[in-house]
Amino acid sequence: MSNPSLLILAGDGIGPEVMDEVKRIITWFGEKRDLGFDVTEDLVGGCAYDVHGVPLTDATMAHAQEVDAVLLGAVGGPQYDNLDFSVKPERGLLRLRKEMDLFANLRPAQCFDALADFSSLKRDIVAGLDIMIVRELTSGVYFGEPRGIHIENGMRVGINTQRYTEAEIARIARSAFELARKRSGKVCSMEKANVMESGILWRDVVTEVHQAEYPDIELSHMYADNGAMQLVRAPKQFDVILTDNLFGDILSDCAAMLTGSLGMLPSASLGQPMANGRPKAMYEPVHGSAPDIAGQGKANPIASILSFAMALRYSFDQGAEAARLEGAIAKVLEDGARTGDLMGPEGGTPLSTTQMGDAILAALDASL
Ligand code: IPM
Ligand code: MG
Repeated sequence: MSNPSLLILAGDGIGPEVMDEVKRIITWFGEKRDLGFDVTEDLVGGCAYDVHGVPLTDATMAHAQEVDAVLLGAVGGPQYDNLDFSVKPERGLLRLRKEMDLFANLRPAQCFDALADFSSLKRDIVAGLDIMIVRELTSGVYFGEPRGIHIENGMRVGINTQRYTEAEIARIARSAFELARKRSGKVCSMEKANVMESGILWRDVVTEVHQAEYPDIELSHMYADNGAMQLVRAPKQFDVILTDNLFGDILSDCAAMLTGSLGMLPSASLGQPMANGRPKAMYEPVHGSAPDIAGQGKANPIASILSFAMALRYSFDQGAEAARLEGAIAKVLEDGARTGDLMGPEGGTPLSTTQMGDAILAALDASL
């Protein structure tokens, strides 16, 4: 049997630095746990534009369709801000999501106990937090037509369209209900049914799928603005949050801060099963390319490493090894390992990206 294949697209900014640590973790699992992976690397985002004039080449896209999982770092940077919209770094990422049909974006927000004091919220509000945002990733206003900037009556008009079919809503609802069955059995669906027809359809279809297929799950609905408020007021009332592409983008950044740092949040983007039974999949940190600290060895690699743990769990059926990796991260945080983003008011000397990687590798060794 050949090893499963991974395509690493480290991208821009801090992407390459954090992915270097992920590569060391991958090697560790090959050497110490007999879990070998065939790893290839390629370009996405601004670095692909610099070389090829596009943020993702057709060849890279085709390769991404063939591998067992894609691991992505981050895309974007200020030097690309004025590029034509069609070749912006973000278009590379959106093309991967769309063409691989990665409709289910899982964004877990877990507060590690050792970091409960780092959140901007009080400890008792976030300690023990463990929620899962299920964001629809391939439709909605990110992709809806018509879109563009047009001239109407001599004036520029910017247009984007929120569009959801019932099939698109039903499949992401099923993803959320399935996950809820493995967790506490609760789903809260968020939209704006008070002002948007697409929100009314969203609420109707989620309710229909619930009644027909998942009556064992406790379903509630909330307007997304109230959801944002509830997330910072009392986040532990939630377990699985089901929401669309744009609201999911916003609510997941909001949830990230509950965990202490955006540098802690992983994500999995999953599509339909491939011929080998594994879902089409891409794993990436929720944080961006952080150009302000890029190349300085300051970035926190944990979100990317936790994203690889999600790959172990969701693509490779290695839940126990994923838990080993998550446990190693919890351990180093308990022992006080901190990158700059995790420094409290008491100060201290932050670890570099590589030193954090070293600490996690040592904790993995100790777990054997
Ligand atoms: C995210 C990011 C992306 C998004 C950007 C980089 C296109 O913010 O994954 O949350 O808006 O989806
Ligand atoms: Mg975002």
